[in-house]
Amino acid sequence: MTSALHFPDGFLWGAATASYQIEGSHDIDGRSPSIWDTFTRVPGAIVNGDNGDVACDHYRKMPADVALMKELNHNAYRFSVAWPRVRPDAGVENQKGIDFYARLADELLDAGIAPWITLYHWDLPQVLEDTGGWTNRDTAYRFVDYALSVYDSLADRVDHWTTLNEPWCSAFLGYTSGQHAPGRQEGVAGLVAAHHLLLGHGLAVDELRRRGATPEAGKQVGITLNLTVAEPFDPTDPDDVDAARRLDGFFNRVFLDPLFNGRYPEDVVADTAGLTFAGKQWQDWVRDGDLDIIAQPIDALGVNFYHGDGASTGVRTDLLGDDVLLPPRPLAPAQPDGRKITFPRRGYPVTDMGWEITPSALTDLLVRLRDDYTVPTIYITENGAAYHDVVSTDGAVHDDARTDYLDLHLRAMHDAIGQGVDVGGYFVWSLMDNFEWGYGYTQRFGIVHVDYATQTRTPKDSALWYAGVAAANGLPA
Ligand code: NOJ
Repeated sequence: MTSALHFPDGFLWGAATASYQIEGSHDIDGRSPSIWDTFTRVPGAIVNGDNGDVACDHYRKMPADVALMKELNHNAYRFSVAWPRVRPDAGVENQKGIDFYARLADELLDAGIAPWITLYHWDLPQVLEDTGGWTNRDTAYRFVDYALSVYDSLADRVDHWTTLNEPWCSAFLGYTSGQHAPGRQEGVAGLVAAHHLLLGHGLAVDELRRRGATPEAGKQVGITLNLTVAEPFDPTDPDDVDAARRLDGFFNRVFLDPLFNGRYPEDVVADTAGLTFAGKQWQDWVRDGDLDIIAQPIDALGVNFYHGDGASTGVRTDLLGDDVLLPPRPLAPAQPDGRKITFPRRGYPVTDMGWEITPSALTDLLVRLRDDYTVPTIYITENGAAYHDVVSTDGAVHDDARTDYLDLHLRAMHDAIGQGVDVGGYFVWSLMDNFEWGYGYTQRFGIVHVDYATQTRTPKDSALWYAGVAAANGLPA
């Protein structure tokens, strides 16, 4: 392959997964139920009533899965640790649970693949939801206990530490729209949850630093956010312009501003004025000193990017197109201010999720992060596309549309690097097809196909193409 587009030396190339989405073995070696074990039992919560009991059986197939990554030339692997394996009752440590991740890290290191740990990818122990989950401040402190258990056991072999994955989803899909576990539809509770998630992040960063997790010691600590480029669907319509502002506020700035500027955005506070959770406005849950804890410097910002958004208002979901599979719960999550934002199609091609393909938005997003915030090195910790792939009669999976999607986004990322943005690596979502939350197993994001009946893995054409990119540290012109 000619490397007409070259990426910086030492660039990380890998794939990402998450514990509940791939591991299975839900009741093995002392794991307790998470909020997703509970939520998947709620009738109508998940397409086809699917759950993660078996998933990709990765808990048992882990060594073979690592060998596959090595064959595909990956030099890093982003995975999450399951809190209910490590501290099943949120108290005492479970050594067997920790041992699995120690084996995984060792296997990766032997294969020359850098382990990249995410501590929280949504599988809160159910026992903690029973005491209020992320709307209870105490959960932030329990998160630190858990984070330290993992860190103390694995710091000798893992350098990359991410506290949270996509706190927007944990907070607003979990506590406002109820599309995700724990399925609560409690309006501004989403903002209370967001604050406690950020507090847990900041407290954990603080403790990890005390334990020696510093760049000088070769360690990186960070957080992963899902971010969008919010544009008005109709730039001449003031309502759409306002919808785009609110989307940027509730989706991007409500996390970026506290993390990098130490304050919540004024327009988000104004939009939610007077709304209460448990008798208090959401800002009343923010205590003196919290924002200093949240805003302490980090070494890596993970960005999960799939698509930009054209924001509108009113009931325009008809414009989404009827070929889009709707999750069983509402498609457009109610915003914490109780008003709707809708996403009419703008005429871009879409993936099987119905998500628009807007690669230039990735460039715009990365440049904006650099211009508007003092961000550390950025890593694309997720990017990818779902298509209804099939294994062909020749035994291969010809997923040209996914390869095109990835190629366009790698070029968009390269554009941003060319404009001076510091990007250190890229992880495809996902290594393999897996449990796609409310959509169950209906959406295939993997570069490796999984036959769920036999647990056979088949690298798709995109995986082979990506192996070439990783080996060359570049793309053809
Ligand atoms: C974001 C999440 O982190 C991941 O769990 C999910 O499967 C992908 N996006 C695709 O929706």
